[in-house]
Amino acid sequence: MQEKQFIANNYAKSLPSGQYTWSSPSNIALVKYWGKKAHQIPENPSISFTLNNCKTTTILTFSKKETKENYAFDVFLDGNKKDDFKPKIETFFKRIEAYMPFLKDYHFKIETSNTFPHSSGIASSASGMSALALCLMSVEQALYKLNHKTDFTLEFFNKKASFLARLGSGSACRSIEGDLIVWGSHSDIEGSSDLFGVKYPYQVHRNFKNYQDTILLVDKGEKQVSSTIGHNLMHNHPFAQERFKQAHTNLKDLITILKTGNLKAFIALVESEALTLHAMMMTSMPYFILMKPNTLEIINKIWAYRKATDSHISFTLDAGANVHVLYPEDEKDNVLEFIKNELVGHCQKGEYITDKIGFGAQLL
Ligand code: DP6
Repeated sequence: MQEKQFIANNYAKSLPSGQYTWSSPSNIALVKYWGKKAHQIPENPSISFTLNNCKTTTILTFSKKETKENYAFDVFLDGNKKDDFKPKIETFFKRIEAYMPFLKDYHFKIETSNTFPHSSGIASSASGMSALALCLMSVEQALYKLNHKTDFTLEFFNKKASFLARLGSGSACRSIEGDLIVWGSHSDIEGSSDLFGVKYPYQVHRNFKNYQDTILLVDKGEKQVSSTIGHNLMHNHPFAQERFKQAHTNLKDLITILKTGNLKAFIALVESEALTLHAMMMTSMPYFILMKPNTLEIINKIWAYRKATDSHISFTLDAGANVHVLYPEDEKDNVLEFIKNELVGHCQKGEYITDKIGFGAQLL
């Protein structure tokens, strides 16, 4: 493995204090990551659209402390102290310490807020962990500059940020850049790696530019299955090996689909991926059904509308009941009309989020 390239030396000169703010988006997988090995290595490659509106903004304030024994940090969500976020961040710090030797030198204040409701059932781990990884990279870059009188390249900065984000949450490594990101080694995708996300390197037809994603909030409760438990269900799963192979095939097929702009083939592949993800959960031991009756109502209405109108509307799902409605930009007016008239009634409190493809995180 090439992890060595990310190991930083101790810096002789240090900074007394500072602050960085990053805003980082969520992403929606087309070919899904489900199943992982040790050290956050995915069992199969995945690809996602980076989103534009669903974002986490994190302000990281750091100040030098006296002793170096332990990590010292406080976390705030929307201004409120969130001690229940601490174990996840502590695990993250432990995983990245070898690559960020300054972590125990500072006290960190982590202030975070999301553009989407925290309890919306939308994964905030991708945007949250990528925003934190980027803030820490900014600290490292400042230390590097102080000691070496030169900057990292942007390429290295993004690669290491993605590498670190992955150690916080796998899908977070696909949130640093946009608009299409591949994570996980695939023989047909040059530069793809299990260690970090890379920009999809091949031609993408204009049909997929500015693709729209309206997220229907069917169930805003806490996740029924945590991602850690979910991924573990793929160990000893009777269909796991076939599923991992299928993800490789689907990603290979997607290369041609993205190039030719074949929307029908795109729809079939993306919807099949979503249902396969849920099928894996339904056929694991223990088993779970994460869709709700309203998830199925929405899927059936999308299919009926597509049949009746020849629209290129489609859906995908995460590991939950919410539905991501995907459609090309030129169908926006009609599809939004349909969503408002027919689908919003199936959302909890009628809530939904309109989003589209985005281009990655920003330093504020
Ligand atoms: C269903 O990235 O949340 O959204 O690595 O354990 O943090 P951890 O898992 P996580 O899993 C996301 C799974 C998924 C599919 C995907 O985004 O590819």
